[in-house]
Amino acid sequence: MVAGMTESHPRISKAVIPAAGLGTRFLPATKATPKEMLPVVDKPAIQYVVEEAVSAGLDDVLMITGRNKRPLEDHFDRNYELESALQKKGDADRLAKVQESSDLATMHYVRQGDPKGLGHAVLCAAPHVGHEPFAVLLGDDLIDPRDPLLARMVEVQEQRGGSVIALMEVAPEQIHLYGCAAIEATDEGDLVKVTGLVEKPDVADAPSNYAIIGRYVLDPHIFDILRKTEPGRGGEIQLTDALQQLADEEKVGGPVHGVVFKGRRYDTGDRGDYLRAIVRLACEREDLGPDFRTWLRSYVAEEM
Ligand code: G1P
Repeated sequence: MVAGMTESHPRISKAVIPAAGLGTRFLPATKATPKEMLPVVDKPAIQYVVEEAVSAGLDDVLMITGRNKRPLEDHFDRNYELESALQKKGDADRLAKVQESSDLATMHYVRQGDPKGLGHAVLCAAPHVGHEPFAVLLGDDLIDPRDPLLARMVEVQEQRGGSVIALMEVAPEQIHLYGCAAIEATDEGDLVKVTGLVEKPDVADAPSNYAIIGRYVLDPHIFDILRKTEPGRGGEIQLTDALQQLADEEKVGGPVHGVVFKGRRYDTGDRGDYLRAIVRLACEREDLGPDFRTWLRSYVAEEM
């Protein structure tokens, strides 16, 4: 236990990653391959998300999966055949890359069964999480590793209790794609108090242009609320609706704070943003960046 922490406020160590979605926006690539396994440069998108959890100190990872998601389990497991082939060749660099994903975190998996929405997916984590605060990371949102967000959210939860969500200002015409928060300022610049939440509102009904991006640090009382949450937008059990109750009533599990994120985020569930993420991350890589940037400059000069 970290110094200064009591039994009633244990260090947050569990991350939940919902990964049961069908990935229809990427068909046909996702016909037989989970969308989470699509490469961003040379790593599957999901590995960035697990690395983010680990770098925020959360090394117990539960993935909520479904049918056709077995490659996720294989990716975070040992591959003895490949390892011994690389060992025989003396290819230490590639061997390290193969072993990296299986050494990252303690991985657990549970299947969602019926796809009844994000709130239902999070509820599937209840037996594993127990009574501790925990993080939820949505796999479609990729946060640039140089702009730490989750560590700040964990810090806020440890200082203020309750639940913490990540918010980002978006253009008003984009707000219908996100959960949207009504907010009040606090005495800390990057931190707001969330006074209300609505899932994917029309622009006319949106209380602000602060969108929920896919990072949450939740009090375990959210499970009690999710058990009673009726299907909402799209006929699905919405995590946003359960959080709205915490923000509204300030009962156990609340209040809800929002960390306002101003760093780099990519929605790898969107094809355009997925391409932008690959180009940006490739440009910044030490091994690939210099050549790739030279090529990109001449490509842009020729094409535009
Ligand atoms: C989910 C949440 C939404 C949030 C979004 C962030 O929606 O329901 O509140 O703003 O993730 O990416 P989805 O994009 O899964 O439809």
